[in-house]
Amino acid sequence: MGDLGRGQLVCLDDFEARARELLSQRAWIYFSSGAGDEDTLRENRNAFNRYWLKPRVLRDVSVRDTSTTVLGEKIDMPICISPTAVQCLAHPEGEIATCNAVADMKTVMMASALSSKSLEDIAATRPTCVKWQNIYIWYDRKITKDVIERAERAGFKAIVVTVDLPELGSRRNQIRMRGGRAQPSLSGLQLRNLQKYMLEYSGSEEETKHLVMSDNRSTWRDIAWLKTVTKLPIVLKGILTVEDAILAAEHGVSAILVSNHGARQLDSVPATIDVLSAIVAAVGDKMEVYIDGGVRTGTDVLKALALGARAVFIGRPVVYGLVCNGEEGVKSVLKILSEEFSRAMALTGCSRLSDISRDLVSGKSRWSKL
Ligand code: FNR
Ligand code: LAC
Repeated sequence: MGDLGRGQLVCLDDFEARARELLSQRAWIYFSSGAGDEDTLRENRNAFNRYWLKPRVLRDVSVRDTSTTVLGEKIDMPICISPTAVQCLAHPEGEIATCNAVADMKTVMMASALSSKSLEDIAATRPTCVKWQNIYIWYDRKITKDVIERAERAGFKAIVVTVDLPELGSRRNQIRMRGGRAQPSLSGLQLRNLQKYMLEYSGSEEETKHLVMSDNRSTWRDIAWLKTVTKLPIVLKGILTVEDAILAAEHGVSAILVSNHGARQLDSVPATIDVLSAIVAAVGDKMEVYIDGGVRTGTDVLKALALGARAVFIGRPVVYGLVCNGEEGVKSVLKILSEEFSRAMALTGCSRLSDISRDLVSGKSRWSKL
């Protein structure tokens, strides 16, 4: 076979392998790490492999429609983009390249609270791109309010609140790289979204950190407060339990993203695919439920939709697409995943998303056995 096909990037794992070769060790460790022993990081992938698909034959699948809506926005495929911080570490154009790719592929981009480009610059890139702004509940609520107002003015269509970050997870290789320090240094990062607040603030690095990190005193009361601050739909990102999903519904949020933060926060939490169907059963009639964490193939997308997700979101694959080939790389990642998904639909006898039902999947959640 010799070199036949070497170097071709034909699946999302190929992008990861190439990105690992291209990135500095420092950047690779930042993007790829999980928390603790990385058991949950492995489990996010392994759990998908414990579900199996039921292929039905002799159905007309000649025309397939993968389009859907999320929060009323029409998108071409149920595959969207989770927020990942400091994308300029992956490619000089960072979030601008991502936004261009997302606009071309007609899906939704969540822009990180800790983006390297400002939300205004991202918004100006492609006004047609559907963008949702990720925020933290910052210690200084003036920042929270100001970022939301800026996002509203810039045309973002929803506010995505990260709720699983009262402390940064323990990512050991990052800590080793920092010579044992638990927290990253902010001065080295170009957080253009937040730069204005950091510049206004003349405190020590420790105090500045307080300004840009999630407030670990925040509670459900802050979600009620957010509802008074904005009319935009609110999405809570980082829900992993039925109990919290019910609280989210009671607080009137529009959607939840079932997520363990790409296994970067608390190790030993379950894979997201294993908690999805219980959460959908509890709140799926009250709000939209999405999932992220370890989605890498078209069959993963199909399994997540069969288990009740309205859409899936991807984090690291976007970063690896950026590393490999900027905007075109992100577009390739999205194209490959959507083509794999469409093919998996055909091979299970589905023509449209409404054909994807629970009985398409067999397998048992490890979580439900407890
Ligand atoms: C993240 N994630 C994240 N989440 C968030 O709410 N705000 C953020 O700024 C970031 N930043 C971030 C940076 C990097 C490098 C990674 C890998 C992840 C979590 C992210 O949105 C998402 O939940 C996971 O990445 C999904 O898992 P996969 O697709 O990476 O397996
Ligand atoms: C991370 C933060 C930025 O996971 O969410 O690196």
